[in-house]
Amino acid sequence: MITAAALLLMTALLPSGAGAQQMSSPSGELSLNVECTGGMLSYALTYKGLPVITPSRLGLTGDEADLTFGFSVVSVSRDTVDRSWTPVWGEYASVRDHFHEMALTLEQDGSGRMMTVRFRLFDDGLGFRYEVPEQDGVNYVSLRDELTEFNLTGDHLAFCIPGDYDTNEFAYTTSRISDLEEEIEKRLYLKTYETRAEGGLSVQTPLMLKTDDGLYINIHEAALVHYAAMLLDVDTSDFSLSAHLVPDKNGVRGYLQAPFHSPWRTVIVSDDARDILASQLIYNLNEPCAIEDVSWIKPQKFVGVWWEMFTGAGATWAYSDYYKARPGVTDYASLTPNGRHAANTDNVKRYIDFAAEHGIDAVLVEGWNEGWEDWASYRKDRHFMFDKPYPDFDIDEVSSYARSKGVSMIMHHETASNAADYELQMDRAFQYMVDHGYHSVKTGYVGYIIPRSEYHSSQWMNDHYVRVVSKAAEYEIMVDSHEAVRPTGLMRTWPNWIAQESARGGEFESMGGNDPDHTCILPFTRLKGGPMDYTPGLFQTKLDYYEGGSKPGEQAGTTLARQLALYVTMPSPLQMACDLPENYLRFMDAFQFILDVALNWDDSWYLEAEPGDYITVARKSRGADEWFVGAVTDENAREAVIPLSFLPSGSGQKYEATVYADGEDADWESNPQSYRIYTRKVKPSATLRIPLAPGGGAAVVIRPVEK
Ligand code: NOJ
Ligand code: CA
Repeated sequence: MITAAALLLMTALLPSGAGAQQMSSPSGELSLNVECTGGMLSYALTYKGLPVITPSRLGLTGDEADLTFGFSVVSVSRDTVDRSWTPVWGEYASVRDHFHEMALTLEQDGSGRMMTVRFRLFDDGLGFRYEVPEQDGVNYVSLRDELTEFNLTGDHLAFCIPGDYDTNEFAYTTSRISDLEEEIEKRLYLKTYETRAEGGLSVQTPLMLKTDDGLYINIHEAALVHYAAMLLDVDTSDFSLSAHLVPDKNGVRGYLQAPFHSPWRTVIVSDDARDILASQLIYNLNEPCAIEDVSWIKPQKFVGVWWEMFTGAGATWAYSDYYKARPGVTDYASLTPNGRHAANTDNVKRYIDFAAEHGIDAVLVEGWNEGWEDWASYRKDRHFMFDKPYPDFDIDEVSSYARSKGVSMIMHHETASNAADYELQMDRAFQYMVDHGYHSVKTGYVGYIIPRSEYHSSQWMNDHYVRVVSKAAEYEIMVDSHEAVRPTGLMRTWPNWIAQESARGGEFESMGGNDPDHTCILPFTRLKGGPMDYTPGLFQTKLDYYEGGSKPGEQAGTTLARQLALYVTMPSPLQMACDLPENYLRFMDAFQFILDVALNWDDSWYLEAEPGDYITVARKSRGADEWFVGAVTDENAREAVIPLSFLPSGSGQKYEATVYADGEDADWESNPQSYRIYTRKVKPSATLRIPLAPGGGAAVVIRPVEK
């Protein structure tokens, strides 16, 4: 660690306007060049001598101050940090946070305004942010724009979703930058815009890119707090990207008061796609855990009263069909039940029995509370009550039944995006949960945001999500948010924020479907910000199976075996087994993998990876001598090659691998439920080779055997 005195010595006082400053990563493979020329600040990044970002401008514009020009560099301070931290849950038992830092303090000619731009260069990429200190010349800043550019070297292949202020639930587009506009358009039939970003073409982050030189580049942000989320405007002719902050409906992108700082802008880069998946850079740029006692934060597997509302077979969230019902006002007991309400006490008990019988930690119940009759209306002040169960859901009976069976309950708080009302009810709602023994909540933000000035990814809402998780922490409640802003590693600070959806999840298998390559892209994009409640485990992939169902054409883009692999390739401390209990009972041998798979890891080894094509990863269960492997492919069949050298090899220990693979004739479209399960004695020196079907995958559990 560097002492303050040494740091002062390293802080060079520079003549005004001083030219270029360089820094390299600890390994020397990445180099950063920062220049202040003609009063304008820019940076450029290279990896192993190859340009990644060509000179790109930096700066902020607010109504009260324009911090984009007229700069002189006043001082440059440098630092080296090498430390490790222990995540409460995650892919590794310990994470190394090792970087070189350079902070340039700038003064604006004339105005005397000061700003610092802090750069951290890791072996796996770059992070930088703007810091505006308290000063006489700047107090409030109503942010209008962030100049930040990411100028690329060519027409890279992009894996991305279109820019939208309200949703991330798009199907991915894979295309050269130059074709993005038309290619995105072609995918919109699967999910169209909610609020298309203003201006020309923009995309959302994490944005994954591959260059013709074989470089993999991921652009995102870390620690999004009290700021708007960053989209990227794309110039398809010169391949330049620039920050597009989500505004509120007044066109303001942030209400800030000095001192303040932006989130970190991140560029992860490598010539090996596996490094992008393994990178912990985004977590490293987040603040340490803010919760002192984390003993109550526990990874969980759950089933839920959920998929039956998606199959089209008729189950509803709503208790009645009386759309004029008013949560908290109407006497729901006097309404005529619609007879299709899934969250009734008996049905919930059936799920609790199933969870108890198979050792599943928890049960989620959606549709338990007043409000679902007309929950999509944007016109109302109150959409839901969070402490008023429907008449046929006996929460006391359910809670005590669950407790007697050793099963936890997960509360559901769909807010219908009425965040304003949720904040009013939150304390009461969390107390109600605690009183009934609930320690996890799934929140939801379907629809347009109330306050009506806001979008899902605007500054006020980003503050809201953090208010929810920090308030939940006071009640020792874990949060799984759906439709919130996409994550930026804040789970390091708030590990009770145990998962988010914030992308096109498994639910879309009943609404247009997810292509087989969707889950070969998500780990390179959405998952870089944090774990996803993707809701894997779909065994009945064709929905025409449901007699009298309304979704006969719907079919998931996956084989059954691939659904098992997702528990390993899409790591999350919260994992659903999304299908109906009766479907698991039809395939109990395959279901065993879901019951066995770990949720938390000591170590992870990315063995094969290519964005959009395939991912093979092995992981060691946290605190247990058990290893799990997941392999997925896109629509093309392939062979997963799995060298077992990650297994400890001392003392001649032997292992047994149980392989859950696609059947020989499996195919996501024509034969998704064909699988085979076999066991093999294996040594660390062995290599498993497993054929994957089109849209297929494989899952493996490896355990030591007695000598
Ligand atoms: C969308 C969520 O993603 C889904 O899981 C939930 O069932 C519905 N909203 C209703 O809240
Ligand atoms: Ca959703």
